[in-house]
Amino acid sequence: MKFFIDTANLEQIREAHDLGILDGVTTNPSLMAKEGIKGYDNIMAHYKAICDIVDGDVSAEVIATDFEGMIKEGDNLADLHPQIVVKVPAIKDGIKAIKYFSKKGIRTNCTLIFSAGQALLAAKAGATYVSPFIGRLDDISFDGIQLIDQIRLIYDNYAFETQILAASVRHTMHVIQCAEVAADIMTGPLSAILGLLKHPLTDSGLAQFLADHKKVNE
Ligand code: G3P
Repeated sequence: MKFFIDTANLEQIREAHDLGILDGVTTNPSLMAKEGIKGYDNIMAHYKAICDIVDGDVSAEVIATDFEGMIKEGDNLADLHPQIVVKVPAIKDGIKAIKYFSKKGIRTNCTLIFSAGQALLAAKAGATYVSPFIGRLDDISFDGIQLIDQIRLIYDNYAFETQILAASVRHTMHVIQCAEVAADIMTGPLSAILGLLKHPLTDSGLAQFLADHKKVNE
């Protein structure tokens, strides 16, 4: 399973990259706003800065919700850097835009996926990635992981090449569950990634090893 980080915070992206396990980055307009990035030039410069840190794909979302607007923005984003993947919402014009980008060889991430039907249409249109939001489904008592499982089955049934990018991952157990149901990628906060390392027996075991070493080496 690939690991993407879901943030526009350069420091956190650098920290995840330095771990050596980062495969890409996802952003969205809310995450960009959280970092105080505003205005076209600053937004484009920020995407470029992210691409300069990581080696993998960087999802950058269009703001337009009409076909013409989406393709104009998406073409500009794709021209910005070869690592950019154009993120498009799972709406009618979004599906048309994904088809357009797919024909042009521009990679896309269909976002705000909350149902298997949306994921099926996005794959038919040629999306590179679909982003089912598992945390937001869990928030309203739907099982986000079950949706990943369902999309996996459908994509495998027809050998769709669209990759399942589990998004809205909130914590470490989500990461493990995504791996169990064979999501291709998970994108989550740095805390969910670093949380995978945490175990009290690792901490106490290491403390014991160091204490024993010290006893005979002093
Ligand atoms: O990748 C989508 C993600 O940013 C949404 O996460 O935590 O706002 O539901 P969240």
